[in-house]
Amino acid sequence: MTRLCLSVAPVILLSVCVSPASPSTVNPCCYYPCQNKGVCMRVGWEDYECDCTRTGYFGINCTLPEFWTRLRVLLKPSPAVYHFILTHCKWLWDIINTTFVRDTLMKLVLTVRANLIPSPPTYNSAYGYISWESYANVSYFTRVLPPVPEDCPTPMGTSGKKQLPDPQLLAEKFLLRRQFQRDPRGTNLMFAFFAQHFTHQFFKTSGKMGPGFTKALGHGVDLGHLYGDNLERQHQLRLFKDGKLKYQLRDGEMYPPTVLEAEVHMIYPPGTPKEKKLAVGQEVFGLLPGLMMYATLWLREHNRVCEVLKQEHPTWSDEQLFQTARLVLIGETIKIVVEEYVQHLSGYFLRLKFDPELLFDVQFQYRNRIAVEFNQLYHWHGLMPDSFVIQGKEYSYQQFIYNTSMLMDYGVEALVESFSKQIAGKVGGGQSINTHLLKVAVGVIEESRLLRLQPFNEYRKRFSMKPYKSFQELTGEEEKAAALEELYGDINALEFYPGLLLEKPQPNSMFGESMVETGAPFSLKGLFGNPICSPEYWKPSTFGGAAGFEIVKTASLQKLVCRNVRRCPFVSFHVPEPSTETGTTGDHQAKNPSTEL
Ligand SMILES: *[C@@H]1O[C@H](CO)[C@@H](O)[C@H](O)[C@H]1NC(C)=O
Ligand SMILES: *[C@@H]1O[C@H](CO)[C@@H](O)[C@H](O)[C@H]1NC(C)=O
Ligand SMILES: *[C@@H]1O[C@H](CO)[C@@H](O)[C@H](O)[C@H]1NC(C)=O
Ligand SMILES: *[C@@H]1O[C@H](CO)[C@@H](O)[C@H](O)[C@H]1NC(C)=O
Repeated sequence: MTRLCLSVAPVILLSVCVSPASPSTVNPCCYYPCQNKGVCMRVGWEDYECDCTRTGYFGINCTLPEFWTRLRVLLKPSPAVYHFILTHCKWLWDIINTTFVRDTLMKLVLTVRANLIPSPPTYNSAYGYISWESYANVSYFTRVLPPVPEDCPTPMGTSGKKQLPDPQLLAEKFLLRRQFQRDPRGTNLMFAFFAQHFTHQFFKTSGKMGPGFTKALGHGVDLGHLYGDNLERQHQLRLFKDGKLKYQLRDGEMYPPTVLEAEVHMIYPPGTPKEKKLAVGQEVFGLLPGLMMYATLWLREHNRVCEVLKQEHPTWSDEQLFQTARLVLIGETIKIVVEEYVQHLSGYFLRLKFDPELLFDVQFQYRNRIAVEFNQLYHWHGLMPDSFVIQGKEYSYQQFIYNTSMLMDYGVEALVESFSKQIAGKVGGGQSINTHLLKVAVGVIEESRLLRLQPFNEYRKRFSMKPYKSFQELTGEEEKAAALEELYGDINALEFYPGLLLEKPQPNSMFGESMVETGAPFSLKGLFGNPICSPEYWKPSTFGGAAGFEIVKTASLQKLVCRNVRRCPFVSFHVPEPSTETGTTGDHQAKNPSTEL
């Protein structure tokens, strides 16, 4: 008791009279002393301990490698090296793609990446230490690194200035698009809307509970954006006949029902008449015709799969047909995401493979928890163009946003074709965000401060990359680097999201190294950690038998579209290649659609 009073008194006196952070009061964990994933624990008043258990290192700060670690580090190529190999030497990969080596490498990619994500999850925004509450309360997003301790001398720990740069200023200076730049990988709007549609099933920050909380309690690919994130909403959306979802017909084609037919909350501008509001799982999808287009495709796919299942199982109840169709669609989604979406954005010549059996002989946890950091990094608004071109006609943001008639005016085919042909913007390297969307980026930075995200360089280390030594090294140029240095004062005080966007992009890539190295582990863990990938689930009976299993194992973006429209349009995640090509490129291109299906 006396010891407490004696130690507290000078602290209070000091902080009131002298400066807010006299050296003796600084929480030593504010220095991030523990390296190589060691855990920092404050001990006594001024001390800390690094817990280096199973890190492969020892010593006060977990900096001394054990023998095997030393060897491993020596032999392990840096992320830059294996990224280079995976994106070069196409002839080599053309051989590898057709041999068992493809499986071996895919397995390696999966285990190396997924092992970077703690499972079961560890911290959250209220708990910077392991706790039962953090494990059990799934309303929180998890996080990989604990928050910056509350009592540090600067907002980012001990580095940098006492005050972080104004987020609006940061965004205007470094993130605002001056001139549209094409994405170097040829990414199109079909990809951009897929990204937005897909991720909004698990990125649903709770407005009510605050930025560290999520409304999507499934924490992964549960298709809540199609079926709703709670049972009540799901029941509103269901037809309760043959497993199907409610729908409306326009010119004989299926669209989501209106909120008159399915009474769920949808976000539309005030005054939007109810008969114009479409009802789908995700409440925000009225925002953009591109999102509602995907919602329509998946709705049609669900009802189509229900018919396939009903054919095979005439005795099945509505409930069993619905539940099984949902699992089939989850499988289709993961297949398309791994083999086409991630394939495209990685730029790898290794042909990625969605085969859960690759992981059956290694340790792997079939569970997932969505992390704050994953949500932060997945803001790729640079993809959005300056205007939207539908069948040769240009639409501004004002005309496109919350446009409730465009989807049915044009129909799904026309939108798919137009979005597949329009190039997306470049994301990485800065100055890439359209002025209408800049406020989103400002919001991301503000949120990261409320949540006390650790510095960019701490994340570099956590995801096995070397911390940057200077802003020049980060941006690969002088001018922006100098301006950033001026604002942040220290590269070790640079924030997570600005760091990801301002890092120099890799050649012929959508982003810089850090976006890929931090994003891929979250992504692959989320996809392969789905319960349908577990040995107990991954078998025909789970999906209604051989036919359902086959739908999962052969799913593709093109089939998703072309099995659900009358005329199969051009559909791809990248714009058509210049027609100088001999026609061998883009296997998901609709060359002769009717024969392929
Ligand atoms: C451990 O880290 C602290 C804080 O970064 C540093 O001051 C100290 O010198 C380090 N100690 C050792 C033994 O490396
Ligand atoms: C190998 O996979 C890459 C990436 O999907 C692709 O570009 C390449 O054409 C493939 N080669 C063969 C022979 O399949
Ligand atoms: C999760 O934590 C929040 C914040 O403490 C609390 O409001 C909520 O009730 C908790 N949820 C559950 C299911 O306990
Ligand atoms: C919505 O899109 C249609 C084309 O489908 C266009 O004619 C209409 O003007 C747009 N609505 C608004 C409010 O801009």
